[in-house]
Amino acid sequence: MKTTFGPQRIMFPLPTVLVVTGTIEKANIVSIAWINMLTGKPPTLGISVGSKGFSAEQIIQNKHFSVNLASVEIMKEADFCGITSGKDTDKFVETGLTKMPSKQIPSPIIKECPVNIECILVDIRQSGRTYNFSGEILETHVDKDKVSDPGHHGSIDVMAVNPLIYYSGKREYRQLGQKVGDAYSIGKELK
Ligand SMILES: Cc1cc2nc3c(=O)[nH]c(=O)nc-3n(C[C@H](O)[C@H](O)[C@H](O)COP(=O)(O)O)c2cc1C
Repeated sequence: MKTTFGPQRIMFPLPTVLVVTGTIEKANIVSIAWINMLTGKPPTLGISVGSKGFSAEQIIQNKHFSVNLASVEIMKEADFCGITSGKDTDKFVETGLTKMPSKQIPSPIIKECPVNIECILVDIRQSGRTYNFSGEILETHVDKDKVSDPGHHGSIDVMAVNPLIYYSGKREYRQLGQKVGDAYSIGKELK
Protein backbone atom coordinates (compact mmCIF):
# COMPACT_ATOMS: atom_id res chain seq x y z
CA MET A 1 0.00 0.00 0.00
CA LYS A 2 1.18 3.52 -0.77
CA THR A 3 -0.23 6.95 -0.06
CA THR A 4 -0.06 9.84 -2.54
CA PHE A 5 1.07 13.39 -1.80
CA GLY A 6 0.42 14.99 -5.18
CA PRO A 7 3.12 17.17 -6.77
CA GLN A 8 5.68 17.80 -4.02
CA ARG A 9 9.24 19.10 -3.56
CA ILE A 10 10.06 15.73 -2.06
CA MET A 11 13.71 15.03 -2.98
CA PHE A 12 15.85 14.01 0.00
CA PRO A 13 18.41 13.92 1.46
CA LEU A 14 19.98 17.10 0.09
CA PRO A 15 23.36 18.65 0.85
CA THR A 16 23.57 22.12 2.32
CA VAL A 17 26.00 24.25 0.35
CA LEU A 18 26.99 27.86 0.76
CA VAL A 19 27.15 29.66 -2.56
CA VAL A 20 29.34 32.75 -2.57
CA THR A 21 28.62 35.40 -5.16
CA GLY A 22 30.18 38.77 -5.99
CA THR A 23 33.83 39.70 -5.47
CA ILE A 24 36.13 39.50 -2.45
CA GLU A 25 35.34 43.17 -1.60
CA LYS A 26 31.57 42.70 -1.85
CA ALA A 27 30.72 39.04 -1.42
CA ASN A 28 27.45 37.43 -0.38
CA ILE A 29 26.64 33.94 0.93
CA VAL A 30 23.41 32.05 0.25
CA SER A 31 22.41 28.60 1.56
CA ILE A 32 21.36 26.28 -1.22
CA ALA A 33 20.07 22.71 -1.06
CA TRP A 34 18.84 22.45 -4.65
CA ILE A 35 22.15 21.53 -6.28
CA ASN A 36 23.22 18.74 -8.59
CA MET A 37 26.00 17.64 -10.92
CA LEU A 38 24.79 18.14 -14.49
CA THR A 39 27.62 16.88 -16.70
CA GLY A 40 30.95 15.20 -16.12
CA LYS A 41 32.94 16.59 -19.08
CA PRO A 42 33.41 19.43 -18.59
CA PRO A 43 32.41 19.07 -14.93
CA THR A 44 29.34 21.24 -14.54
CA LEU A 45 26.88 21.67 -11.69
CA GLY A 46 23.45 23.22 -11.44
CA ILE A 47 21.95 25.32 -8.67
CA SER A 48 18.37 26.58 -8.36
CA VAL A 49 18.22 30.07 -6.92
CA GLY A 50 15.15 32.16 -6.11
CA SER A 51 14.88 35.15 -8.48
CA LYS A 52 13.91 37.55 -5.67
CA GLY A 53 17.11 37.04 -3.65
CA PHE A 54 20.30 39.07 -3.77
CA SER A 55 22.41 36.11 -4.93
CA ALA A 56 20.55 35.59 -8.20
CA GLU A 57 21.13 39.25 -9.03
CA GLN A 58 24.87 38.94 -8.31
CA ILE A 59 25.31 35.71 -10.29
CA ILE A 60 23.63 37.25 -13.35
CA GLN A 61 25.76 40.38 -13.02
CA ASN A 62 29.15 38.77 -12.32
CA LYS A 63 28.80 35.38 -14.08
CA HIS A 64 30.75 33.38 -11.51
CA PHE A 65 30.19 31.87 -8.05
CA SER A 66 31.79 29.45 -5.62
CA VAL A 67 30.05 26.47 -4.04
CA ASN A 68 31.21 25.60 -0.53
CA LEU A 69 30.09 22.42 1.21
CA ALA A 70 28.78 23.20 4.69
CA SER A 71 29.80 20.84 7.48
CA VAL A 72 27.85 20.09 10.66
CA GLU A 73 30.38 22.25 12.56
CA ILE A 74 29.05 25.41 10.87
CA MET A 75 25.34 24.52 10.99
CA LYS A 76 24.29 27.78 12.70
CA GLU A 77 26.23 29.92 10.23
CA ALA A 78 24.82 27.95 7.28
CA ASP A 79 21.26 28.36 8.55
CA PHE A 80 21.83 32.09 9.12
CA CYS A 81 22.82 32.48 5.45
CA GLY A 82 19.47 30.92 4.50
CA ILE A 83 17.30 33.18 6.61
CA THR A 84 18.91 36.56 5.88
CA SER A 85 19.47 38.48 2.65
CA GLY A 86 22.58 40.08 1.26
CA LYS A 87 20.35 43.01 0.39
CA ASP A 88 20.61 44.22 4.00
CA THR A 89 23.14 41.94 5.72
CA ASP A 90 26.86 41.37 5.33
CA LYS A 91 26.77 37.64 6.02
CA PHE A 92 30.57 37.31 6.23
CA VAL A 93 30.64 39.92 9.00
CA GLU A 94 27.61 38.53 10.87
CA THR A 95 28.66 34.85 10.75
CA GLY A 96 32.40 35.37 11.17
CA LEU A 97 33.05 33.03 8.21
CA THR A 98 36.36 33.73 6.48
CA LYS A 99 36.81 34.73 2.83
CA MET A 100 39.72 33.18 0.95
CA PRO A 101 40.67 34.17 -2.60
CA SER A 102 39.73 31.69 -5.31
CA LYS A 103 42.29 30.69 -7.94
CA GLN A 104 40.20 31.14 -11.11
CA ILE A 105 37.28 33.46 -10.30
CA PRO A 106 36.75 36.75 -8.42
CA SER A 107 34.18 35.26 -5.98
CA PRO A 108 35.99 34.07 -2.83
CA ILE A 109 35.68 30.65 -1.19
CA ILE A 110 34.89 30.00 2.50
CA LYS A 111 37.82 28.80 4.65
CA GLU A 112 35.63 26.96 7.19
CA CYS A 113 33.97 24.82 4.47
CA PRO A 114 35.98 21.62 3.85
CA VAL A 115 35.26 21.48 0.10
CA ASN A 116 35.15 24.50 -2.23
CA ILE A 117 34.29 24.60 -5.92
CA GLU A 118 34.95 27.51 -8.27
CA CYS A 119 32.42 27.93 -11.10
CA ILE A 120 31.84 30.18 -14.08
CA LEU A 121 28.28 30.65 -15.26
CA VAL A 122 27.65 28.85 -18.55
CA ASP A 123 23.85 28.78 -18.75
CA ILE A 124 20.74 30.36 -17.20
CA ARG A 125 17.21 28.95 -17.43
CA GLN A 126 14.31 30.67 -15.74
CA SER A 127 11.51 28.52 -14.43
CA GLY A 128 8.78 30.43 -12.63
CA ARG A 129 10.36 32.33 -9.73
CA THR A 130 13.57 30.30 -9.90
CA TYR A 131 16.75 30.61 -11.93
CA ASN A 132 18.57 27.41 -12.81
CA PHE A 133 22.21 28.37 -13.13
CA SER A 134 24.74 25.98 -14.68
CA GLY A 135 28.28 26.50 -13.48
CA GLU A 136 31.31 24.93 -15.12
CA ILE A 137 33.79 23.88 -12.46
CA LEU A 138 37.21 25.46 -12.94
CA GLU A 139 38.87 24.47 -9.66
CA THR A 140 38.17 22.45 -6.53
CA HIS A 141 39.76 22.77 -3.09
CA VAL A 142 39.64 20.26 -0.24
CA ASP A 143 41.08 20.62 3.28
CA LYS A 144 44.42 18.75 3.23
CA ASP A 145 43.69 16.90 6.46
CA LYS A 146 40.58 15.34 4.88
CA VAL A 147 42.31 13.70 1.87
CA SER A 148 44.82 10.87 1.80
CA ASP A 149 45.76 11.27 -1.88
CA PRO A 150 45.68 14.85 -3.20
CA GLY A 151 44.36 14.93 -6.76
CA HIS A 152 42.06 11.93 -6.31
CA HIS A 153 38.63 12.88 -5.03
CA GLY A 154 37.88 9.30 -4.08
CA SER A 155 40.36 9.70 -1.24
CA ILE A 156 38.29 12.35 0.52
CA ASP A 157 37.31 11.16 3.99
CA VAL A 158 33.59 11.97 3.90
CA MET A 159 33.14 11.27 7.60
CA ALA A 160 35.83 13.88 8.35
CA VAL A 161 34.12 16.34 5.97
CA ASN A 162 30.94 15.73 8.01
CA PRO A 163 28.54 17.25 5.45
CA LEU A 164 25.46 19.07 6.69
CA ILE A 165 22.48 17.21 5.28
CA TYR A 166 19.14 18.94 4.84
CA TYR A 167 15.85 17.08 5.11
CA SER A 168 13.42 19.57 3.62
CA GLY A 169 10.19 17.71 4.54
CA LYS A 170 10.81 18.32 8.24
CA ARG A 171 13.08 21.34 7.75
CA GLU A 172 15.82 19.73 9.76
CA TYR A 173 19.56 19.09 9.50
CA ARG A 174 21.07 15.63 9.73
CA GLN A 175 24.44 13.94 9.67
CA LEU A 176 25.92 11.33 7.29
CA GLY A 177 25.52 7.65 8.28
CA GLN A 178 27.88 4.69 7.78
CA LYS A 179 28.93 3.07 4.52
CA VAL A 180 26.62 0.21 3.57
CA GLY A 181 28.07 -1.05 0.27
CA ASP A 182 30.27 -0.55 -2.78
CA ALA A 183 28.65 1.31 -5.69
CA TYR A 184 28.88 -0.12 -9.25
CA SER A 185 29.67 -3.44 -7.58
CA ILE A 186 27.17 -4.68 -4.98
CA GLY A 187 24.49 -4.98 -7.70
CA LYS A 188 26.60 -7.61 -9.48
CA GLU A 189 25.50 -10.04 -6.79
CA LEU A 190 22.15 -10.16 -8.60
CA LYS A 191 23.69 -11.00 -12.00
C1 LIG B 1 18.80 24.76 4.42
C2 LIG B 1 18.37 25.78 3.42
C3 LIG B 1 18.38 25.46 2.07
C4 LIG B 1 17.98 26.42 1.12
N1 LIG B 1 18.00 26.08 -0.20
C5 LIG B 1 17.68 27.01 -1.13
C6 LIG B 1 17.76 26.69 -2.52
O1 LIG B 1 18.13 25.61 -2.92
N2 LIG B 1 17.42 27.69 -3.41
C7 LIG B 1 17.03 28.95 -2.99
O2 LIG B 1 16.76 29.81 -3.85
N3 LIG B 1 16.94 29.26 -1.67
C8 LIG B 1 17.26 28.32 -0.75
N4 LIG B 1 17.19 28.63 0.57
C9 LIG B 1 16.72 29.98 0.96
C10 LIG B 1 17.78 31.07 0.74
O3 LIG B 1 19.00 30.69 1.32
C11 LIG B 1 17.23 32.38 1.34
O4 LIG B 1 16.13 32.81 0.58
C12 LIG B 1 18.28 33.49 1.49
O5 LIG B 1 17.81 34.38 2.48
C13 LIG B 1 18.53 34.29 0.21
O6 LIG B 1 19.59 35.17 0.47
P1 LIG B 1 20.10 36.30 -0.52
O7 LIG B 1 18.98 37.32 -0.66
O8 LIG B 1 21.30 36.87 0.16
O9 LIG B 1 20.40 35.66 -1.85
C14 LIG B 1 17.56 27.71 1.55
C15 LIG B 1 17.56 28.02 2.91
C16 LIG B 1 17.96 27.07 3.84
C17 LIG B 1 17.94 27.41 5.31
